[in-house]
Amino acid sequence: MSVDLRVNLGGIALRNPVLTASGTFGYGAEFMPFLDLRRLGGIVSKSLTLEPRTGNLPHRIAEAPGGMLNAIGLENVGVDAFLGEKLPALPADVVVVASVFGTEIDHYAEASKRLSASPRVAGLEINASCPHVKSGGIEFGQNPKLLSALVRAVRRATQRPVLVKLSPNVTSIAEMAKVCEAEGADGLSLINTLQALDLDVETRRPLLRNVLGGLSGPAIRPVALRMVWQASRAVKIPICGIGGIMTAADAVKFLICGATAVQVGTASYLNPMAAAEVVDGIAAYAQRHGVGRIVDLVGTLALPGA
Ligand SMILES: Cc1cc2nc3c(=O)[nH]c(=O)nc-3n(C[C@H](O)[C@H](O)[C@H](O)COP(=O)(O)O)c2cc1C
Repeated sequence: MSVDLRVNLGGIALRNPVLTASGTFGYGAEFMPFLDLRRLGGIVSKSLTLEPRTGNLPHRIAEAPGGMLNAIGLENVGVDAFLGEKLPALPADVVVVASVFGTEIDHYAEASKRLSASPRVAGLEINASCPHVKSGGIEFGQNPKLLSALVRAVRRATQRPVLVKLSPNVTSIAEMAKVCEAEGADGLSLINTLQALDLDVETRRPLLRNVLGGLSGPAIRPVALRMVWQASRAVKIPICGIGGIMTAADAVKFLICGATAVQVGTASYLNPMAAAEVVDGIAAYAQRHGVGRIVDLVGTLALPGA
């Protein structure tokens, strides 16, 4: 039996439901020596700002139990260099989602507009885990009013599919999901990293120069599954599940909890072929379970008593 792996993520047609997560796969070309990018559903770029950014000083990465801490500080080449140098390096039939980030709403909107002018950009992913400077550093994704204004501005700036990547550092993910849907988002990506801190007990110094970092990897997977499940029950727009996916079984869990697609992040640091292996494993799982179309697996969590 051949399995139909195609999914539609809010208007972005994918040959299979596996993308790579922003910031963990460079701009794609870095991984071309390891795998044919066309085996993937798509890739999500490092978050892009209007101007290039150098990011934080080291140490920017540290090991954590079951994952890693990072505070890269959103180092990136900027929108123009991405469009002029990074995108053209990719094979024409690789689906590219551009991740967008800014410290002001206008910056997000302008970056979205410029990226949307390229026919190679299949969609945008709005990284809402960025501190809003005018509000004293609260993340856009932590405040429903700010999030609403952000999605509205980006929605006006582009005709391309817009995915909003939610911050998990909130009390109610369902509320944030509803805000995005109401402002016209085509889909949601979740979760970004969980705010975290670790230190060296002998020196009493934080492991990261930035003091706080984001926790990713298998340690956050159950939290991510919970949030995907809650968000999928709150909105009708499709969800891209992210958080600690190391294997195909992990990815399938996200589909069952209501995600239409998934992203592989930290796993690519351990194994650059991880995302492609997840694609093959999902197909094998579907075959083993007699699932002809992968979309039929989405949201099939067997609840107790059902
Ligand atoms: C080193 C590193 C850099 C990241 N950079 C970004 C980024 O630029 N934009 C973004 O939206 N998420 C970024 N993320 C978050 C990931 O895309 C993903 O949401 C998170 O790591 C959870 O997935 P994982 O556990 O599979 O890594 C980064 C994560 C890591 C580990």
